[in-house]
Amino acid sequence: MRLLIRGGHVIDPDTGKDGIFDVLVENGTISRVEKELSDMGAEPGDMRVIDGRGLYVMPGFVDLHVHLRDPGQEYKETLATGGRAAARGGVTTICAMPNTRPVTDSPEMIRSQSERAKAECPVHVSFVGAVTKGQKGEELTNMAAMKREGMRCISEDGKSVMDAKLYRKAMEIAAKEDILILAHCEDGNMIKDTVIVNESDFSRGLGLSGVTNGVEDIIAARDILLAKETGARLHLCHCSTKDSVEMVRLAKEAGALVTAEVCPHHFLLSDEDIPGDDGNYKMNPPLRKREDVEALVDGLKKGIIDVIATDHAPHSEKDKEGGFRKAACGIVGLETSLSLAMTELVHKGVLTPMELVKRMSLTPSRILGVDKGSLAEGKCADLVLVDPEREFVIRKEDFVSKGKNTPFDGKKVKGMVVMTIVDGEIVYDEKEGLLK
Ligand code: DOR
Ligand code: ZN
Ligand code: ZN
Repeated sequence: MRLLIRGGHVIDPDTGKDGIFDVLVENGTISRVEKELSDMGAEPGDMRVIDGRGLYVMPGFVDLHVHLRDPGQEYKETLATGGRAAARGGVTTICAMPNTRPVTDSPEMIRSQSERAKAECPVHVSFVGAVTKGQKGEELTNMAAMKREGMRCISEDGKSVMDAKLYRKAMEIAAKEDILILAHCEDGNMIKDTVIVNESDFSRGLGLSGVTNGVEDIIAARDILLAKETGARLHLCHCSTKDSVEMVRLAKEAGALVTAEVCPHHFLLSDEDIPGDDGNYKMNPPLRKREDVEALVDGLKKGIIDVIATDHAPHSEKDKEGGFRKAACGIVGLETSLSLAMTELVHKGVLTPMELVKRMSLTPSRILGVDKGSLAEGKCADLVLVDPEREFVIRKEDFVSKGKNTPFDGKKVKGMVVMTIVDGEIVYDEKEGLLK
């Protein structure tokens, strides 16, 4: 099936195109991007013509931080449901974190997961291997063997490897094998006997012993220093503090191979926005102070923060019960990230649409080392159509993810994904619902 997207506003940081073009998709690739192609190449028959007028046509989003819970916790999410949530959010490539049950820590698991995803998941998935076996922090996994099965990055996400000597060894191997490290920065000793909530009037009011910025900053500093020493490529996950932004700035200035991401909840909400003892506001790292939020937005604007990723962390309703003391950490994000970013960043003038696509597609694609994030002719046809003016209210019942855990239920947003195309096939159409 050929697709012709007619008259859309193409926004493609790779080719620099920012204007009205027709896009022809053939055999899973972008074959032509030209002005008024419809007069030249369009023939009836096997061609589906899509009216792109009033819509942005962008390369599909690449989310470097997703939890699919499969295998082991399929009641929270599966490869299929997480993939469908991605499709609904305009996300065409995801990195799946290894804190599954069992932990994704062997070449066999990377291989079997990748094979399953091809059959079950409507979007591309890059499986992340754990740094240590079972994420126990004791013995390194066989990274070279996992890489031979297609793994591109390693992570201990959910915690940090606290043994700096062991982590340094992991970085040496990662540097040699050209494997990217996705770092969750959290000092495991400092969080003992705490609840994951920012130390603040809010936490004190609930009688909780919360966590400070230092929990993140200490490990961010350590990891940056180790990356400088070993030459490893380090990507800091879910930055949430003002000092982490500053450290990334300094690391880049010093020539270290350091990049960073921020999640929508961290650039949008501060601890002052938490309405009460509600587990849907509990995630790790926690919502920080207003000044941290401002620094994250500023970091995004200046390009110190390279990427917007979701840390999509689906949980069941039961897992999120019990307020901050008991609830599991994490919120879903795949189906809300574009709309939240459009509302808070683009419509408020922080980022241009072009800069947004860079942070959500081209740059994460380059960091991951995949040939995505581009609408150049000949590239794989992973695309998203976005209506920038469409206003709607986020409703968790509409999510196709199994996880309904979001603090954004009921929030009014402006900017909606209306179609997602993967390898030239429509995997999501807002009018027709999910197709795959
Ligand atoms: O909030 C979080 N949830 N942070 C993490 O680091 C892990 C994630 C999860 O797996 O639920
Ligand atoms: Zn994490
Ligand atoms: Zn995570």
